[in-house]
Amino acid sequence: MTARAPDAAALGRGQELYLRARQLIPGGTQLLSKRPEMFLPEQWPSYYSSASGARLRDLDGVEYLDMSYSGIGACVLGYADPDVNRAVIAAVEAGSMATLNCPEEVELAELLIELHPWARMVRYTRSGGEAMSVAVRLARAATGRDVIAFCGYHGWHDWYLAANLAEGSSLDGHLLPGLSPAGVPRGLHGTMLPFQYNRPEELRAIVREHGKLAAIVMEPVRNHMPDPGFLEEVRELATAAGAVLIFDEITSAFRLNTGGAHLTFSVTPDVAVLAKGMSNGYPMGAIIGTREVMEAAQTSFISSTYWTERIGPAAAMATIRKHRAANAAAHLVAIGKRVQDGWSAAASAQGLPVEVGGIPPLGHFAFQLPNGQAVRTLYTQMMLDRGFLATGAFYAMLAHTEADVDAYLEATHEVFGLLAGRIASGTVESSLRGPVAHSGFRRLT
Ligand SMILES: Cc1ncc(COP(=O)(O)O)c(C=O)c1O
Repeated sequence: MTARAPDAAALGRGQELYLRARQLIPGGTQLLSKRPEMFLPEQWPSYYSSASGARLRDLDGVEYLDMSYSGIGACVLGYADPDVNRAVIAAVEAGSMATLNCPEEVELAELLIELHPWARMVRYTRSGGEAMSVAVRLARAATGRDVIAFCGYHGWHDWYLAANLAEGSSLDGHLLPGLSPAGVPRGLHGTMLPFQYNRPEELRAIVREHGKLAAIVMEPVRNHMPDPGFLEEVRELATAAGAVLIFDEITSAFRLNTGGAHLTFSVTPDVAVLAKGMSNGYPMGAIIGTREVMEAAQTSFISSTYWTERIGPAAAMATIRKHRAANAAAHLVAIGKRVQDGWSAAASAQGLPVEVGGIPPLGHFAFQLPNGQAVRTLYTQMMLDRGFLATGAFYAMLAHTEADVDAYLEATHEVFGLLAGRIASGTVESSLRGPVAHSGFRRLT
């Protein structure tokens, strides 16, 4: 993947292991967002030996404060949260799998419905993408229709990657750059119609032209806050078209409140999908919805052995209860806002063109320069040297303290100053000890 063969001896143990991984695991990792090339090729620690709170240790025993993706958004409370771990250990000791069902799945359903009173029924998976597949299957089964209008990223499954099938295979992939639909049946071409966030006129046109939609699928919020009336209009269009409105809350939930972000905006979907933020790093996914749509599960076959194990629901209940008791969302918003304001302040102090975006708990920034990705890579390199995992995003955790943010912003101020100097002298690329990071696929939002 990189232009030149790295010298294994000069790398840390993490990069050394990653070279082996690349021979054994196609793509190197299981998740695009965990590829070292996305952060700092040939230098990113890549693997952790232990993680606790907001800190982790790499394979060389070096400790870092994680001010980046916080388990790719999966850990809202913090790494190895003791309360969640206690619940998980109890579930393990009580037997995490048996021929009979675990009662926790009913208790969790009650808790999720208590948080989302519009929902009446619940199904489970163990990951986000598969939960979205279930939601879409339910919508198609409930409506007897196929076509989906969508906005944003929703996983790797056929229903979604079908968006990248074009009439001719040479055009495949232009809609969601970097997401190849190889292996997705061409028969699904035409089943996915994209619209952009905060562009109701695009969805209106789809509804006008295609009428019979099975579902409208979107995140209620991600990179931007909804414009006034946008989510309300989406709701109205879905109702008028007889389409199931599915809110993908895999990443947005448990950031602005204890539950789906839609609760904050008072717009009610027919189905909401919860996953990553719900169980603090333990696999769990939930599809919650109206009785009418959820009952469609009885008419289609949706069933999997490990959707019945005990760890996921035990972790989810412990996470949700702690999240609610600690008012974690208020902390995530406050910390995230401090970081976003800190990026802007450091950028203007150093005269760097930096664009800051995202809701506060899921903030991101980019250098608005032709070689912005190289500058961001150098930022990551310099921050790593100072003991921080840092990239162009910060996902807040309850475990991040004010002192963590102080230390991070102080280092960011210093590094932005150094970057301004390297930009002025044209030495950004020559200051990198490895290649420029990949920018991966672009989210269609
Ligand atoms: C909005 C959204 N949908 C779907 C997914 C896919 O979830 P998972 O990676 O658990 O399969 C993600 C993961 O990043 C996501 O952010």
